[in-house]
Amino acid sequence: MNTKQIVFIALPFFIFFGNCKQKETAQISEENKPQIGLITKNAMVVSAREEASKIGSDIMKNGGNAFDAMVATEMALAVCYPYAGNLGGGGFMVYRTQYGEIGALDYREKAPIKASKDMYLDDDGNYMASKSKTGSLAVAIPGTIAGIFEAHSKFGTLPIEEILTPVIKLAKEGFILTEDQAIRFNKYGPIFKEVNGESSIYTETYNTGDLFKNEALAATLTEISEKGRAAFYHGNVGEKLVNFLKKRDAIIYMKDLNAYEAEWREPIIFNYKDLKVISMSPPSSGGICLAQILKAIEPYPIADYGHNSTKAIQVITEAERRAYADRSHFLGDPDYVEIPIDSLISKNYLKARMDNFSFEKATPSTTISHGSLLGYESMETTHYSIVDQFGNAIAVTTTLNAAFGSKLYVKELGFFLNNEMDDFSAKPGEPNMFGLIGGEANAIEPQKRMLSSMTPTLVERDGKFWMSVGTPGGSTIITSVLQTILNVYEYDMSMQDAVNAPRFHHQWLPDIIQFEPESFDKKILTELEKYGYFIDENSAPIIGKVDAILALPDGTYEGGADKRGDDTAVGF
Ligand code: GLY
Repeated sequence: MNTKQIVFIALPFFIFFGNCKQKETAQISEENKPQIGLITKNAMVVSAREEASKIGSDIMKNGGNAFDAMVATEMALAVCYPYAGNLGGGGFMVYRTQYGEIGALDYREKAPIKASKDMYLDDDGNYMASKSKTGSLAVAIPGTIAGIFEAHSKFGTLPIEEILTPVIKLAKEGFILTEDQAIRFNKYGPIFKEVNGESSIYTETYNTGDLFKNEALAATLTEISEKGRAAFYHGNVGEKLVNFLKKRDAIIYMKDLNAYEAEWREPIIFNYKDLKVISMSPPSSGGICLAQILKAIEPYPIADYGHNSTKAIQVITEAERRAYADRSHFLGDPDYVEIPIDSLISKNYLKARMDNFSFEKATPSTTISHGSLLGYESMETTHYSIVDQFGNAIAVTTTLNAAFGSKLYVKELGFFLNNEMDDFSAKPGEPNMFGLIGGEANAIEPQKRMLSSMTPTLVERDGKFWMSVGTPGGSTIITSVLQTILNVYEYDMSMQDAVNAPRFHHQWLPDIIQFEPESFDKKILTELEKYGYFIDENSAPIIGKVDAILALPDGTYEGGADKRGDDTAVGF
C-alpha cells in the first residue's frame, strides 16, 4: 500500500472544514484538491523514493524498529536517490522513543584538520568561489556512516547485515528510473564527466523506465555490512576514498576519517500553544529559527486571519524576517561558538522583536540588524519521517549539500562526495552558493561543523507523539516545516493537504516574499504590495518537499508525501 493509492475520501468534510476558518483564502488549483495521505495502523516511512520507503517499512514489518528502518532508509536513499541520499555526506536525526525519551543525533560533516579560515582566498584575498563548491577542496569529512552506526548501536535491534541486505540487493539488481531521475542524470552527466575526468554509470544517457544498477556501491555496502563503520573510517573503504582524493589534491587524510565521530545533542525543545516541538539544535539553525518564528507569531490569532491570508502572511513574514536576521549573526557549531539559545527563543525577546511590526506597513529588512542573508538554497537535500509499531518516531534530514554534492564520484566505491564546505562562511561578506553570507560564528576552522538549515522535527500533543516532519530546501526548510505544522494545527488540514498546500518564504535579505508560482490569490499579493512587501513569484518553482507523518486521534497514522517530488509513503 502506498500514496500512489491516495484515497480521495471525506472531500466535503475537508472542503467545509478547511474553508470555515478562511476569510481570505489562497487559490486552490485542481491538483491541490483536498486529499488524505496513506493511512496505516502500525508503522510508516515517508521518503523521497518509494523503494527507500518500502525497504524501511519492510524492516519494521520483519520486527525491526524505527532506528533499524532509519539505517535501511538512509542507505537505500544513497542507492536510489543519489542526488541527496548519501554515504559521502551528513545529516541530523531527531527521535522520540516509545517511552517518550527525546534526543538528537548530529552526523553533520566536519572541516578537514588541514582546513583554514582563508582556504578559499587567493593571494590577494579574493574569494575563489568555485573552490568551495566543486571538486576536492569542497569536500568535508563525511558523517553519514558514523551516524547510522551510532543510531543503530544505541537503539537498533536487528543485525546490521540483515538491515543492509535489501539495500545491497537494490544496488546490485537495480531500480527503475522515474522521469525526474532520468532527467537529472542526463542533465548532470556532462558535469560529472568534466569534474571527474572519466566516464561512469552516471555519465551515460538514461530514459524513464530504465533499470539502474550500481555494482560498486553494492560492494561498498557489503564491506560496511561485514566490517561495520570501521570499514569507512579506519579500513579499506576509507583508504580507497583517501587515495581517490589524494590524486585530486584534496586535504582529507586517514587521520581525518579516524577522528570523525557523530555527536548526540540536546534538541531544541519549546512549546507552541499546547504543542511541544522538538527540533534540531546547532550546528543546525533549524530548531532555533523554527522556535523563534513560532513563538513570535503565537500571540497573533492566525487561524482567525485565515490560511495564506494577507494578515497571516504578514505576521509570519515579519517573524521570519527577524529570525533569519539573527541566524547568521549568532549561529555556528556549538563546539566552537557560544550560542545564547535560551535568550534567542525566550518569549520576552521575541515579543520585543515583534514590537515594531505593524499591519499597516512592512518592516524594511534594512531596519532589522545582524548578519546578512541573500539568495536561495535549492532542493538538494532529502528528508524522511518514520514511525514504528512500538511507538518510536524519528525525523531525519540528510544531504550532500548541492545536487550530487561536489560532483566528485568515487567510481570504485559507487558514491558521490559532498560539497558541504560551502556552508561555512568562506569570507565575511561573500555569499556562498545559495547567497548565504555568514558571520564569524560560522567561519572555517579545522574539525568544525558548518551551519545548516536542516530542520528534522517531532511534535508532541497532549504528551503523545503527534507529528514527524521535515524537508529539503536549504534556507526554505525552516519556513516549510513551520507552515506544515501550522496547516494542520491552526487550519485543520489533513497531513497530505498540509504538505500539498502552497508555500511562501521570507529570509530577511533579500527583502522579498517568495511565493510558489500561480498558487496564491492575486488580490492578496496586490494587497501585500500595497503594504510595502516585495513579491517574487518567479524564482522558486517549488518551495520545500515535505515528508511527514501525523498521529490521528484513533491511533492510526496519516502520511504526507510531497507531490512536488517522487516522494512516497509506505507502511502497514
Ligand atoms: N546544505 C544545506 C544545509 O545543511 O542546510
